[in-house]
Amino acid sequence: MIKLNKLLMLVAVTSLVAATAARGAAPLPQYAHDKSLGVGSCANSLCHGAVETWKDSNVLQNEYVTWSRSDKHARSYSVLLNERSKEIVKKLGLPEPAHKSDLCLDCHTHNPKPAQRGEGFQITDGVVCDACHGPADRWIKSHVEPDATHANNVARGMYPTNDDVARARLCLSCHVGNQEKFVTHKIMAAGHPRMSFELDTFTHIGPAHFKIDADWIKRKGSWDGVRAWAIGQAVTAQELLALLQSPRGRDGLFPELVLFDCHSCHHPMADKRNTAARVGAGPGFVRLNDASLLMLRQISRQVSPDEAANFAQQVTRLHKSIATGTDSLAQARTVEHLITAMIPKISAHRFKGEDVKAMLLGLVDDGLAGQYADYQGAEQAVMAVQSVAEFMGRHKLLRTQSVRPAMKRLLAVVARDEKYQPAAFEQALRDLKAGIQSGAIK
Ligand code: HEC
Ligand code: HEC
Ligand code: HEC
Ligand code: HEC
Repeated sequence: MIKLNKLLMLVAVTSLVAATAARGAAPLPQYAHDKSLGVGSCANSLCHGAVETWKDSNVLQNEYVTWSRSDKHARSYSVLLNERSKEIVKKLGLPEPAHKSDLCLDCHTHNPKPAQRGEGFQITDGVVCDACHGPADRWIKSHVEPDATHANNVARGMYPTNDDVARARLCLSCHVGNQEKFVTHKIMAAGHPRMSFELDTFTHIGPAHFKIDADWIKRKGSWDGVRAWAIGQAVTAQELLALLQSPRGRDGLFPELVLFDCHSCHHPMADKRNTAARVGAGPGFVRLNDASLLMLRQISRQVSPDEAANFAQQVTRLHKSIATGTDSLAQARTVEHLITAMIPKISAHRFKGEDVKAMLLGLVDDGLAGQYADYQGAEQAVMAVQSVAEFMGRHKLLRTQSVRPAMKRLLAVVARDEKYQPAAFEQALRDLKAGIQSGAIK
């Protein structure tokens, strides 16, 4: 009997390990087994709390100062004490205030289980170093030894934030949500802001407390903003499709509405958009939030051109299956699997000038063909265009000043979702296209 139990446990553990491996290895810091030590352990002025950067160190050493002074993660817990949070909790009828509810704490601070909290850990400190870099208990001492390597730190529980897929899973766990935690339509209707995230853009506006230079690359491997953007899109789509298939992807009679395009429901009736026509599902249908899928269509053309047509077709089939209610979950699984297979290809791909230019023009042409008539697609397209145009600028493929005015207008057009005008967006895209053509460096 004991043997059978053990065997069953082993099977359960093995399949859990296999599932984790399939999703991209390391457990997220919140669920890791080591103890989190809290920000006090990193903040000493001889450690990461220096006011000035150190010249002879390979990291900046002022990370704590950057984080505590300018990073919103240092204030994310205190958000839970504000009026808006009180209002949300009241509308939801939660039994506890926001700063006591795991529902909110899971994203607004580092919230490991009590047994994984070290002595200096304070729940009130917000999204601290341990929340991204992993619980420091087993690596705090060894990571400063002269022979410390990144691989050894990771083996001792440091989270591999340098790895695009791992970083995407980490950031997206709070910024988009996953099967463990997400901001449901109910929470949004109670007053929570809509989520909007793009990995490359958000990595830099933090502001970054790190510098990618030759030394970083030597210690940690390659860094490529376009690849990070592409991985971010793939992981977002994967998480959303997984949610759609899970029991948490339902809310009463309906599927969970945050998985759909907000503006397919939330716009005045007089404002005729007919965006459903573009996915061939006919008028009056609730569209899946397909912003990332639209981006992946461009990405797949570069990283797996043989499969790009099939990918586009399967996405169209997904929209139709949702409209008709036939096999939609099976079709969601099919698309999710295609993305899972695409991720290692994106990771291995070295984005070259031509790929990036083709993606940029592809994004613009999709926009001109009315593919981003809904707001969320347009918003992602703008962040994508920005990442890709910056990449081209850095690699001397584009004179960025030639696209700057159009870029500014694009940002203005998507600044407020309620004010979004597809026609203004298309006009700015046309200007952008002209800018790309005149600014291209051969
Ligand atoms: C899945 C993660 C997640 C969960 C769960 C979550 N939030 Fe948030 N919340 C965020 C993120 C990320 C932002 C920032 C959004 C942005 O600006 O892009 C945010 C923003 C907010 C804001 C607006 C920020 C401000 O400065 O006022 C409030 C208020 C808020 N959340 C309250 C709550 C409350 C209350 C709960 C629990 C009922 C909650 N959140 C649950 C991730 C989450
Ligand atoms: C929201 C997530 C997040 C938080 C919170 C965070 N970091 Fe980071 N940190 C990153 C990312 C992403 C990188 C860049 C990738 C990398 O170097 O692994 C990074 C890089 C670093 C680096 C390495 C730079 C290099 O050249 O190798 C140090 C040191 C660092 N962070 C220290 C800290 C300290 C100290 C804190 C707390 C005060 C902190 N971080 C909080 C995400 C975070
Ligand atoms: C444990 C949850 C959590 C994780 C992990 C996390 N964030 Fe956040 N992040 C938040 C919350 C909550 C806020 C909103 C704070 C506020 O509004 O004051 C936020 C805010 C931000 C902001 C400021 C956005 C704005 O509107 O100004 C940026 C940028 C950001 N996060 C980037 C990242 C990146 C990049 C990563 C991954 C390296 C990451 N975050 C990981 C929870 C998280
Ligand atoms: C399938 C249609 C549908 C989709 C998709 C949808 N919503 Fe809603 N939303 C509704 C309905 C219905 C209500 C309830 C309106 C009421 O109470 O009068 C609502 C209420 C709201 C409210 C509260 C407004 C009020 O009048 O009380 C907010 C805020 C909101 N939704 C935001 C969003 C966001 C953000 C998204 C996308 C992430 C989204 N919704 C997606 C149908 C939808």
